[in-house]
Amino acid sequence: MTLDPHAEVHERALIVDFGSQVTQLIARRLRESGVYCEIHPFNRVNAAFLAEYAPRAVILSGSPASANMSTSPRAADEIFELGVPILGICYGEQTICAQLGGDVEQSDHKEFGRAHVEVVKESPLFEGVWDVGGKYQVWMSHGDRVNAIPEGFDVIARSGGAPFAAIADETRRIYAVQFHPEVVHTPDGAKLLENFTKHIAGLTGDWTMAAFREEAVAAIREQVGSARVICGLSGGVDSSVAAVLIHEAIGEQLTCVFVDTGLMRANEGEEVVGLFRDSYNIPLIHVEAEDLFLGKLEGVDDPEKKRKIIGATFIDVFEAEAGKIENAEFLAQGTLYPDVIESVSFDGGPSVTIKSHHNVGGLPERMNLKLVEPLRELFKDEVRALGRELGLPDHFVGRHPFPGPGLAIRIPGAVTKEKADILRKADAIYLDEIRKAGLYDEIWQAFAVLLPVRTVGVMGDERTYDHVLALRAVTSTDGMTADYYPFPHEFLGSCATRIINEVRGVNRVVYDITSKPPGTIEWE
Ligand code: XMP
Repeated sequence: MTLDPHAEVHERALIVDFGSQVTQLIARRLRESGVYCEIHPFNRVNAAFLAEYAPRAVILSGSPASANMSTSPRAADEIFELGVPILGICYGEQTICAQLGGDVEQSDHKEFGRAHVEVVKESPLFEGVWDVGGKYQVWMSHGDRVNAIPEGFDVIARSGGAPFAAIADETRRIYAVQFHPEVVHTPDGAKLLENFTKHIAGLTGDWTMAAFREEAVAAIREQVGSARVICGLSGGVDSSVAAVLIHEAIGEQLTCVFVDTGLMRANEGEEVVGLFRDSYNIPLIHVEAEDLFLGKLEGVDDPEKKRKIIGATFIDVFEAEAGKIENAEFLAQGTLYPDVIESVSFDGGPSVTIKSHHNVGGLPERMNLKLVEPLRELFKDEVRALGRELGLPDHFVGRHPFPGPGLAIRIPGAVTKEKADILRKADAIYLDEIRKAGLYDEIWQAFAVLLPVRTVGVMGDERTYDHVLALRAVTSTDGMTADYYPFPHEFLGSCATRIINEVRGVNRVVYDITSKPPGTIEWE
């Protein structure tokens, strides 16, 4: 991963990743307190890297590895020679102990989940948060345990399962905790991390969206020069925010392409065109491709085939339109930080995991385009904050995620225009009801699914034989796991009534109460 050029003016913290499931949360907590930080895998953090990155504080993450083996991953020795404050978390504590002269052993007594630590010594790490003698809830997840701490360290907190739950060498400003302060189950964890970055390392927390905007604009100008940039708008938040930011930087050098696949939500096309062309005056090519997409999907009922057809057709249309723009050298994408972070595996060395959700798959290579990805360092909620900073309307910035293949994967079986129209209408009513009930922002994603099942009903004195519609709403933090949203029954009842009364073609409504896993959020 290359260093972020426009973060240089910030005081930066460094998170050295040993592969914990929750390393990203450390970055989240730091950034929430205004401290800029990046996550880098342990085996890339060497002397040259440290000289270039110049961290003002270093955090060593947790890990699934064991710390007492010859193959255990280690922090570069140079980290301990930087003279900046260091905080080890879980495995981070164990490797500090193993590397600085303490002792770590594998323990039969594994400690997972909620635990309580008792503070036994004052420390700037606890200042204003925890008092000596007090007992506080933390979240533990470790197998190994520290047996002896290195010279110069004192125990500052202990727990039943971890006599060295927190240790400190106040002279060298090296701290280590066995528990995970970055997770919400350690209720005071964020404050402890803030004590470390601000109180101990003296960082002021100068990472703001206004500063990011200014620097990102300068960086885009430098990267792009006088070339042209094209950006595929999907109607989603990420590509929209990227487009507005890039437009602020290079104005008319940016052209957006919006491909209306006929599989968008109600009014999506009008909203995107209205916002970008009319309000922001951003050059926008609007391609009406409903017939093309629905034609290619005709009779196809296999979910994976549907996805592949949509992806390939999208690229064809986009390429044809983009090819008409002279001198286009760059493709803009709304890639986010979670898509970028490299993870580390312990048997095969470093491995790179990059999700390709945002990639307009294969296009950059096919068209020989370079990428502009101005949101690469941001988390989803930071993108929303940047969108607001750029003046995008709240209702647009707060929209629920919407999948690339659109309504096609919410119509199990073969897709037709008639079905897409029924679904669009029902979906819009459902979301309207959710908004009216003030629940939209509590829910990660809500949508309707039109089932390929017909049932008998009675409306007025008439027999009906129409589709079943499923409603889905989930809470989630990242889309990787999810819980169904517990709507009050009255809400579901009134939604069902409205949909059946207003949408011809639906005569029965059901609610999906599956979590993820074992389900997925979408039905296909
Ligand atoms: P699943 O259904 O896998 O979805 O639980 C997790 C999240 O990802 C979204 N999703 C997609 N987003 N292209 C996208 O950009 C896709 O092909 C795609 N498939 C699923 C889904 O809406 C949910 O937010």
